[in-house]
Amino acid sequence: MQLIENKEEIYTKCIKSINNVPSKNKLKTISTMLFDSFENWIFCGFYFKKDNQLFIGDYKALKIPCSPINFEGVCGAAIKENEILNIPDVKKFPGHIICDPNSKSEICVPFKIHSTNFVLDIDSNKLDNFDETDCRFLTKIIKNL
Ligand code: SME
Repeated sequence: MQLIENKEEIYTKCIKSINNVPSKNKLKTISTMLFDSFENWIFCGFYFKKDNQLFIGDYKALKIPCSPINFEGVCGAAIKENEILNIPDVKKFPGHIICDPNSKSEICVPFKIHSTNFVLDIDSNKLDNFDETDCRFLTKIIKNL
C-alpha cells in the first residue's frame, strides 16, 4: 500500500533536510527539494533584484525560466508590497509575466539577504494550488536563511 503524505508532512521532511545543508548550498537545496516533492509544481526558484530588474538565481523547473524579468509581474509586486502573494489564477493578475504557459497559479515569498531583495517564486500547473499551509511553511523556510 502506498503511503500518501499530506502537505504538512512533506514540508516538515523537506525542512529537516534543508536544515542539515551548509548555508552556501541552501537556496539550491530548497528549490530542488521542494520542486521534487510536489507533483503539480512546474517551477520553484529564486529571483534577486538588481537595478530595476529581477534575475534568476537557483531554481528547478520543467522549462528554463525567463531572466531577467521586469519588476512588474507577481515577483516584482511581492517585493514592492513586501508580503507573500498567493495568486490562485495567474490570468487574473494584471502584469503577470508568462515564463511557462502551463503555469496556472503562483506564490511569491519576498525576503532580503543583506541589502538584496529576493523572492522565492513557485508556479503550479493547477489552479488555486497554494493555501495557508504553503504560506506558513514557506515563510518558515525563508526565515531560517
Ligand atoms: N510569473 C512571474 C515570472 C517568473 S516565472 O513564473 C518563473 C511573474 O509574474 O513575476
